[in-house]
Amino acid sequence: MERVTKKHHKEAGGHEGPAKVPGLRPERRKQAFSVLGGAVERAGDAESAAALAELLTPDPGLARALTHGFHSYAGRMHPFTARTAIARFSQLGQEVLDPFCGSGTVLVEAMAAGRKAVGSDASPLAVIIAQVRSTTLGPEGRARLVEGARQIAEQAAERARKRQRPEIPQWAAREKDRFFPHVALELYGLRALIGETKEDDVGRALRACLSSILVKFMRGSEEAQARRIGRGVPSHFFAGRAEELARGLEALERRTPAGTPRPQIRVADARDLGIAPADRFDLILSSPPYAGTYDYAEHHDVRFLWLGLPRANLDRVQVGARDEGLGSAAQRWLHDRRRWLSEMARVARRGAAVILQVGDGVVAGAPEDAAQTVEDEAQRLGLTPVARVSQARPPHDYRLRQIFEGRPRREHIVLLRKEH
Ligand SMILES: C[S@@+](CC[C@H](N)C(=O)[O-])C[C@H]1O[C@@H](n2cnc3c(N)ncnc32)[C@H](O)[C@@H]1O
Repeated sequence: MERVTKKHHKEAGGHEGPAKVPGLRPERRKQAFSVLGGAVERAGDAESAAALAELLTPDPGLARALTHGFHSYAGRMHPFTARTAIARFSQLGQEVLDPFCGSGTVLVEAMAAGRKAVGSDASPLAVIIAQVRSTTLGPEGRARLVEGARQIAEQAAERARKRQRPEIPQWAAREKDRFFPHVALELYGLRALIGETKEDDVGRALRACLSSILVKFMRGSEEAQARRIGRGVPSHFFAGRAEELARGLEALERRTPAGTPRPQIRVADARDLGIAPADRFDLILSSPPYAGTYDYAEHHDVRFLWLGLPRANLDRVQVGARDEGLGSAAQRWLHDRRRWLSEMARVARRGAAVILQVGDGVVAGAPEDAAQTVEDEAQRLGLTPVARVSQARPPHDYRLRQIFEGRPRREHIVLLRKEH
């Protein structure tokens, strides 16, 4: 997982749209996921470690399969990792939980494999993206999505070309710092038309399509730097994104075994899963935030604003957020981790696997061995460490290089088992 800067356009989240749109350069391939690759260190039970090692040799073809390419998201799990872990560590019809579901990679793969998927995230934006990526809509809903987006795009582009100014509310007026004025106006026109649609599953998908294109058109993005963004281009791009989503949803529908329920996804704090019953889930598969690597509220600030989502709660409860310096404050990080691990220990059924993708972060200005510290804490909470695999992720940031000097910085997949 790459460190993220406040420049949203550099987010490690895959490319921002279909390749051929008039007025835009063909997409340059961006770093999509945790950079998988390199030597794999194994520890613990040999057979389990061999199974985990398979999760780190991804099939690049899967990166944009199903709905995985629809919306960029910082720190996504590679779909291959999710697919292989689900196939190896759970059975058809079983329940799979991801309490840090982010954009829903685990949930989409669990559904496609005929598992009952349950997910939550403290970010309402993450929940919307995950819901949109896993609600297949049926042929009629998908047709409504594509046609609705096409009509909205036509209208917004037409208004933009005629230089008709929509009425701009106070919050959007400030957005001229983030977007060139004509781009902000066109995006605002799109937003206003989307706001007139019903707030059902299709309406939510339209809102997510807007969210998915915002970063591409910000000042400082590759496109904005490369050439002036023509009037009508954001609208065209928006319609293309809806088509891409519809295709992914159709593929997901075809792949999902009949009778599989759609994933249950809600906003929840992983440190307190509340009503989730004890001893329930057959597999927990998750990638919690790495210490001091991202700030998920700040990172998605533009999307929270444009979608009218509240971010204060995420600011308050998110774990591991990067602070002013580099890294997370130690006491809170450790306390939070104990809380979310103990919730996982509570809701996993006896004998279930808990698989966590974790990365070495920075705690109180010092490097942390994420696998070792997670395993030590898990053991105390009744989750027995079985095996782990690790791969080096050399830091690109010079300050991180200084902090990690002489020590490897690694990403790990840790397998724990709830004791019987
Ligand atoms: C590494 S990302 C997960 C990415 C996800 N696996 C995917 O493929 O998109 C970590 C997620 O943890 C969420 N998060 C941070 N603090 C949380 C908390 N206290 N409770 C629940 N989710 C939290 C963030 O909003 C973020 O979406």
